[in-house]
Amino acid sequence: MSRAADAQRLLERAASAYAPAAFSSSLGAEDMVLTDLIAREGLPIEIFTLDTGRLHAETVELIARVQAHYGLALHVVHPDAAAVADYVVRHGRDAFYISRELRQHCCEIRKVEPLRRALQGKRAWITGLRRGQSSARADLPLAGFDAAFNVAKFNPLAEWSEAEVWAYLGEHKVPYNALHDRGFPSIGCAPCTRAVAPGEDPRAGRWWWEQDSKKECGLHVNGDSPHLPVRVTSV
Ligand code: ADX
Ligand code: SF4
Repeated sequence: MSRAADAQRLLERAASAYAPAAFSSSLGAEDMVLTDLIAREGLPIEIFTLDTGRLHAETVELIARVQAHYGLALHVVHPDAAAVADYVVRHGRDAFYISRELRQHCCEIRKVEPLRRALQGKRAWITGLRRGQSSARADLPLAGFDAAFNVAKFNPLAEWSEAEVWAYLGEHKVPYNALHDRGFPSIGCAPCTRAVAPGEDPRAGRWWWEQDSKKECGLHVNGDSPHLPVRVTSV
């Protein structure tokens, strides 16, 4: 599978030219492909997951399963407890249903600020983003510079189709999130994600009550520069 070899090469280059490198795993299907590629070569890339405190039990369970399967440690990053408590007291735990502002505020506290912390001191950030996931991601580069987080950002699966992701997981017997078998192509926080019908937009189940939003949480802001400060060849 040459797509896998290409992704592997890009991971190796990110790890060597941009050390220290870190991979953010949401425990979704794409991220399981990357976890497998990193683990099978023992690449020096830290793997971390943002445990928002609102993840599905299936996702939390997969953290332990991945650690046991690969014998590696996933760095679990938690939100600032005082900021979460303040939000809950002021607005209510599920205030994200009330307005887009309160939803983005919750994402900022539970995902974006912890991501900023996780990327502190890192030079490369690796993600499982794919172009096919949404129209907003259609022009996603394989590598670029993320000015918001001040790191080189690598998306080794940018060109992969959903079918290629699943072919890889099947071929290599990679553990995956049980929610995928129940109609969840994209998995986020439990109260903000639901199953979609076959053929429906893969991100339709994310923040489904926000009809007009771009359905992004602020981890991946548009406007990244496709230019890296150090040239990484064949990307
Ligand atoms: S999101 O922006 O809508 O939440 P999505 O679920 O599509 O993102 O995942 C895209 C990529 O963002 C993942 O491949 C992963 O690199 C990163 N990501 C998303 N959620 C998390 C999380 N909870 N922990 C770590 N990384 C995450
Ligand atoms: Fe909060 Fe929902 Fe965003 Fe998770 S996805 S951080 S619960 S608003």
